[in-house]
Amino acid sequence: MTELLTVQSLKKTVREPDGSVRRIFKGLDFAMGSHERSIALLGRSGSGKTTLLRIIAGLDAHYEGSYVFQGTALPRRLDPLADHRRAHIGLIAQSYDLLDDFTVERNVLFGARGLAQPQERTVEALEAVGLQGMGKKSVTKLSGGEAQRVAIARAIVKRPTLILADEPTGALDEDTEDDILGLFASLQDSGISFIIATHSPRVAASCDRRVVVSDHRLVDHVNVG
Ligand SMILES: Nc1ncnc2c1ncn2[C@@H]1O[C@H](COP(=O)(O)OP(=O)(O)OP(=O)(O)O)[C@@H](O)[C@H]1O
Ligand SMILES: [Mg+2]
Repeated sequence: MTELLTVQSLKKTVREPDGSVRRIFKGLDFAMGSHERSIALLGRSGSGKTTLLRIIAGLDAHYEGSYVFQGTALPRRLDPLADHRRAHIGLIAQSYDLLDDFTVERNVLFGARGLAQPQERTVEALEAVGLQGMGKKSVTKLSGGEAQRVAIARAIVKRPTLILADEPTGALDEDTEDDILGLFASLQDSGISFIIATHSPRVAASCDRRVVVSDHRLVDHVNVG
């Protein structure tokens, strides 16, 4: 099986404000095959799901262990990590992280910076998430579901290999959650793989495979739903 990514013997500690050191991961292993469409990342609040996604995204290089993406070991310097992220990975953050002072279009364009034909790609991405015609709207005037679609458009605008979605439906009602899951399924059909951190059993059940951060490691999860 060819791997999209492999994380091995991951160790991560963080320093608390009082100076004490807390262990988040102690020897975590994780692999995602190139053929896998979606994996749900489960675990209690504070178990380290966001932390793991940030490491996979190349936003956090402060760890021990190895991380190989499409056969290439990731370097620990910030510049190559930013290149890696830009080239391969779309991130949908836990709080959407939209730029409030800007329109829908500007927010998506932000994800397309440095690419050829950013305007065309932005129009295409907004169409893909069902927000065509909404480009000029201020993001402060959107519903939660619409804001999530803007965050998705910004993640797909560069045509990534992998999307990391952190609690993508945490603030949405069930119907809107279903809409977002439908959108994810169509993006998976177009060849994008997903890792989705979630507390929602519905989202977990929609994924091909489920893993849980538990006791500072990652274990397979069965019997969801
Ligand atoms: N930069 C940091 N400095 C100090 N502590 C941190 C840092 N980042 C994360 N932590 C701590 O690491 C632990 C894991 O946090 P993380 O956000 O990854 O959890 P989570 O599984 O995503 O939780 P939730 O389900 O609530 O989103 C938490 O206890 C958090 O306080
Ligand atoms: Mg989190």
